[in-house]
Amino acid sequence: MSTRLGDRILKVDHAGEHGAVNIYRAQILVSSWTAPQLTPLLRHFLDHELGHRALFRDRLQARGVRRCRSYVLCGIGGWTLGLLTGALGSSAIAATTYAVESVVLAHLLEQQQQLRDTDREAFDAVSRIVAEEQEHHDHGRDAMQAGAFWPPLLTPIVRVSTEAVIWLGMRL
Ligand SMILES: [Fe+2]
Ligand SMILES: [Fe+2]
Repeated sequence: MSTRLGDRILKVDHAGEHGAVNIYRAQILVSSWTAPQLTPLLRHFLDHELGHRALFRDRLQARGVRRCRSYVLCGIGGWTLGLLTGALGSSAIAATTYAVESVVLAHLLEQQQQLRDTDREAFDAVSRIVAEEQEHHDHGRDAMQAGAFWPPLLTPIVRVSTEAVIWLGMRL
């Protein structure tokens, strides 16, 4: 069963995954100078995000729903965030992952509540990515060194920006 709320959520999550793909792509590009030890892990996360984006794209196509109007904005925003934080090095990269994924996880849990009894197909799509987002979140949290300069500065900025993009996407 397809619902308007389910369509809306699939669109926002699809755009968000496009943002995530671009964050990791940009960080991978810069991290070969600033944090080469992190590059393999970032590639691993990028593989996940490509899978998530394809999953939501397929669901939208099957329902005949166009992508979100925030899609291009998410891509540019993600790329910019990835470049800036990638340039600042490993603690900034970890803080970004932690901040983005903690907001994402909170929204996924809320979306599961909203979809559980109304749109099983969208519920299943959302549920399929939770474990991998949790892995990204946990890794970011554990990799933020205590006392490092960037995490306390970046975390609130990245959290608020991520919330803003999701808020906007649900209304476009
Ligand atoms: Fe993802
Ligand atoms: Fe992720």
